[in-house]
Amino acid sequence: MPSYIMGLVEVAERPGMISFATGLPDNSFFDTEGLRGSVDRVLSGDGACPALQYGATAGFRPLREKIAERCRSELGFEASADDVFMTNGSQECFDQLGRMFLNRGDTMAVENPGYLGALQSFSSYGPIFRAVEMTDDGPDGEMLSDSVESGAKMFYSIPNFQNPSGRSYSRSARLSVSKIIEGSGCLLVEDDAYGELGYNGRPGSTIKSMAPEDTVLLGSFSKTISPGMRVGWMVVPDWMKEVANRSIEAASLQSGSFSQRVIDDFLSNNDYEEYLSSLRRGYKHKKRIFLDAMEDRLPEAMRWNDPAGGMFIWLRSPDGTDAMKLFELALDKGLVTMPGRPFHIKGGENTVRLNFATPSAGEIEDGMKILGGVCRDLYCL
Ligand SMILES: Cc1ncc(COP(=O)(O)O)c(C=O)c1O
Repeated sequence: MPSYIMGLVEVAERPGMISFATGLPDNSFFDTEGLRGSVDRVLSGDGACPALQYGATAGFRPLREKIAERCRSELGFEASADDVFMTNGSQECFDQLGRMFLNRGDTMAVENPGYLGALQSFSSYGPIFRAVEMTDDGPDGEMLSDSVESGAKMFYSIPNFQNPSGRSYSRSARLSVSKIIEGSGCLLVEDDAYGELGYNGRPGSTIKSMAPEDTVLLGSFSKTISPGMRVGWMVVPDWMKEVANRSIEAASLQSGSFSQRVIDDFLSNNDYEEYLSSLRRGYKHKKRIFLDAMEDRLPEAMRWNDPAGGMFIWLRSPDGTDAMKLFELALDKGLVTMPGRPFHIKGGENTVRLNFATPSAGEIEDGMKILGGVCRDLYCL
């Protein structure tokens, strides 16, 4: 599959470009002072050499204990540090899961639309993707049941503030998915990359809490603390621990334990709840600025949603139109957007993913002027 995501990151970095395209956090939200303090502490005293040395394959145990504690207190399921495997960002989990469970020609159920980066990663293992259509409530239950009954090995899902659409599963959709998956032999991969960024809290319980033996929950500090540190994890059922350990060891021996120690220190020495609350307030505010600019600048025939968390707004041009043209024309005028088509197994020609988290207020204003002009030119609205 073509590499859209990192390609667009490069385009967006060209001088003078405004980007609504990628999923990068706002630079000004990084706690550089807090992290500098953590790096200093990690590299001081007796801990300095272990921090620079090889570490355990599953990751730095105190951090895994903190993640397990959060699973119990916030995500509603029993977990211990032994169930948590640290990875180089949660992106690596896709490759690990593909390596562990997919053979060429296996069927795999995926959300349509779904996260392109995961589709790219899983596709290295040659599965046949079965599209499960997404509604505003969650995945189409009948399509998911059909896929599972026909032997799908996995279902990859993002129940909270999905990338690309910003949508979340309703409570009843979570329950239905758990019932379809439980005991079916199909593994649910529950990606919670944006779960901590709910402006009014989490939109529902984790499906892992409903079907713990059939679900792997993926998490990441990329959207909260720093994507550059590459610290993600998977919380696996008991039966998967040994194979997960062997698979990570074979691939990379271990993921970067220096970053894990820095994050562990950051969590120990800062009020993480307060930190998260301020992030959520910050992103909620940016979303408001972005939506206001959309209201002001985009013609009425364009449609979009108002997500309750995460970083993305899902824009639709009128039915039958091709948003790829919108992408190309906007690019010519200095605005990078992300066409929605590549996030689909089928359909999605008239969709665009917009990221409100990265651009500044000024860039939002200028970028939206460009987008509004392009929409009017293209669709004669
Ligand atoms: C839904 C989703 N899952 C996983 C990832 C991978 O993130 P990371 O590897 O930085 O944890 C991303 C990145 O944008 C994402 O949007």
